[in-house]
Amino acid sequence: MTRPLHPTPDSGPPSGSSGSGPTSGTEAGKWAAAAASAVEQALRLLDLDTKARLLAGQDTWTLPAVPGAGLASLVMSDGPVGVRGVRWSADDPSVALPSPTALAATWDPELARRAGRLLAQEARRKGVHVLLAPTVNLHRSPLGGRHFESYSEDPLLTGLVGSGYVAGVQDGGVAATVKHFVANDAETDRFTVNNVVGERALRELYLRPFEIITARARPWAVMSAYNSVNGPTMTEHDRLQNGVLRGEWGFDGVIVSDWLAARDTERALTGGLDVAMPGPRTVYGPALAEAVRAGRVEEARVDDAVRRVLLLAARVGALDTVAPAVDPDDLPAPLDGREVAREVATRSFVLVRNSGPGGAPVLPLAPRPAGRIALSGAAARDARVLGGGSATVFPDRIVAPLDGLRDALPQGALSYSLGADPNDRLLVAAQGFELRTTCRDAAGSELGGGPLPTGQVQWLSELPDGVEWDALHSVEITGTFTPRESGAHAFGTRGVGEFRLTVDGRELFAGTQSAPEGDPFDVFFGAPEDRGQVELTAGSPVEVALRHTVRKPADAPVQAVGFALMHLDPRRDPDELIAEAAEEARSAQAAVVVVATTDLVESEGFDRTTLALPGRQDDLVRAVAAANPRTVVVVNSGSPVEMPWREEVAAVLLTWFPGQEAGAALADVLLGAAEPGGRLPTTWPARLTDAPVSRVVPEDGELVYEEGVFIGYRAWQQAGTEPAYPFGHGLGYTEWSYDSLTVRRAADGGLPQGEGEVRLRATVVLRNTGARPGRETVQLYVAPLDPGGAERPERWLAGFATVTANPGETVEAVVEVPHRAFEVWDEELGRWRHLDGGYRIEVGRSLTDPRLSTTVTC
Ligand code: BGC
Repeated sequence: MTRPLHPTPDSGPPSGSSGSGPTSGTEAGKWAAAAASAVEQALRLLDLDTKARLLAGQDTWTLPAVPGAGLASLVMSDGPVGVRGVRWSADDPSVALPSPTALAATWDPELARRAGRLLAQEARRKGVHVLLAPTVNLHRSPLGGRHFESYSEDPLLTGLVGSGYVAGVQDGGVAATVKHFVANDAETDRFTVNNVVGERALRELYLRPFEIITARARPWAVMSAYNSVNGPTMTEHDRLQNGVLRGEWGFDGVIVSDWLAARDTERALTGGLDVAMPGPRTVYGPALAEAVRAGRVEEARVDDAVRRVLLLAARVGALDTVAPAVDPDDLPAPLDGREVAREVATRSFVLVRNSGPGGAPVLPLAPRPAGRIALSGAAARDARVLGGGSATVFPDRIVAPLDGLRDALPQGALSYSLGADPNDRLLVAAQGFELRTTCRDAAGSELGGGPLPTGQVQWLSELPDGVEWDALHSVEITGTFTPRESGAHAFGTRGVGEFRLTVDGRELFAGTQSAPEGDPFDVFFGAPEDRGQVELTAGSPVEVALRHTVRKPADAPVQAVGFALMHLDPRRDPDELIAEAAEEARSAQAAVVVVATTDLVESEGFDRTTLALPGRQDDLVRAVAAANPRTVVVVNSGSPVEMPWREEVAAVLLTWFPGQEAGAALADVLLGAAEPGGRLPTTWPARLTDAPVSRVVPEDGELVYEEGVFIGYRAWQQAGTEPAYPFGHGLGYTEWSYDSLTVRRAADGGLPQGEGEVRLRATVVLRNTGARPGRETVQLYVAPLDPGGAERPERWLAGFATVTANPGETVEAVVEVPHRAFEVWDEELGRWRHLDGGYRIEVGRSLTDPRLSTTVTC
């Protein structure tokens, strides 16, 4: 069954457990009625203890099964770029798609839907019922640590791309979990920060994507955020969870806590939280049953939460008394993960500059260039394909730019030099390591183990086959390391507890590493400790071993083993490296420099402090550009970086975190097999200090969103400051003429509740005037002729559409503009208010490149 993004009564997924309402009598209505009765039947079979248990994780990723009621264990796993499954390690690989910023840069909800379908396929393959994605918090500040993991600074773009993603995941019969509800837009003190946000900003910006997705794609789950909003923590936020999400918008799915976010049994349950994760130690389970018995919580409330969990189980096929919401025979056709990853990547790359010597475009390079291409940059060899933290997955292959270009170019047409390496701290041992784990009990007897694809052990509840938590005493990583470079290699450890590290027979460390303060996930993602250097010879393998005594603190909320063997290649003189790369570039036909952030810059758990590229990468770009006027810079970062050299180079291509097929997609775009299809989903500042909103550090526990509705381009326009590149900007390989714009008042409804009806339908006629087939993203902005006292932004995105055309071909783009585009949230009335008046409708290539406009009265 293929559902449109805004479900009509006939095609939508079930809207609730009652079976009444507009879906009655239809296929979906019949399913809803059957599910509702199966839910009630199962509920009757559960006693209080079982119900309370069902609302709490039994381990890190699952809820308990209740075989007597036909209920299987519901399994959850992180996205958004892939489905890791219940093992947090590389031994169970997953397709790794480009970062959410990349998906948003495609401006294509249908492509997002395809990505979602692929992820549902992955989830089914791994036995996962609930995907913990998408992340739809906003790019409030470019410093936000999980900026790469959310879509955009604009709520409409976020909401529409998110709707496509959710629809795709749920097309595959897997639940999507829209997160983090709400205002989790930065990472500093994320467990304790109280975000102080005005109601208008909440409604018009931060709640909007959740509202749009709830209306259009009917998500089966939402995750509440760690932070507080205007007082209460989000897991306890009765007004926003019960009042707005369920009450106003009609969300009928499960609200699950963020991991370790639920802190109080009674307040969480009355505040609307259904499921507390992870387990086994949570504020639900036995503590909830006890609260009911003590009269502190009504059992009816527990029943409501259990009903929602049972409905979720019914939807995903984990309740055997009813068929799943998506008939297994109607699942979407299987997709090829590599193909989807490559397509999303090429469609997401944003060409922000293409002006070589004499202003002529330098890209695309010829597929068979006359001369050599000089490639440089550490990320060209070791691509950074995804951001750090819970979004991490482990693909079965990574095509680095060096691999991708080598495969695509004739032999001898590519040279590579390192140039600059931004990694000055130890990384998880990977390149050149052949590792395995051995688990032992206290007496030293072997319990089990297996191959370990990287030096990271990250077992959350799931231990290697045959290993029982109670018996487990130590885990040893052993294996060989074959260096690719001669010199002093540094080795280290990450984690908490006792370690013994030996390399080539030398003991580098034996002792205890203590717990970092702050975020509990620091034990997995925190800073590594340098334990010493060993002189090694390229190509000569040495033995490595890291033994860790497993910690089992009595108050640990989960049974987890997490530690890592870390490594850093020998460092060479940075000036020499830069000079070498510039020399290689001088005689080349074109130079390509790949610059990147590192996982110490962009990751979950902390915010950024600077937008500067780490290490000597700026110097590398300048040196190469000085040596070769045809220098293309490829930026491999999930979110904005400063590019002080941007006017000195011929082309700048932003590739985000491009996913596992990074290099293949890059070769496609650089050599012209594909057009770079992306448009900026967020404004790129020239300098951090220009960004109108950047603060992410709370004061006295509070982060005040004092800018109100002015974030992103809304704020840039208000401030009158020029960014490096505006919202919506991106060049393709062809040219377009915008020939006509017709705006009609829409006669029909067409959009679901929550969007208001379609107010206007704009038809744009445009022509591909260039020499290549191309794709254009037609953007429609609304600008009030008179702000109307509501302090509205100068203009805002109100719709968009993508079209493709062959050279010379004329095509039509139809953009639907919802009623909501002309409304503001009135804080006094406590509702949306339409602002009558004149509006300029602008259509064009970016926020600052309108091609046609007209005035309407709305
Ligand atoms: C993150 C969530 C994630 C969860 C489970 C949390 O730290 O904030 O986005 O889904 O962990 O890994």
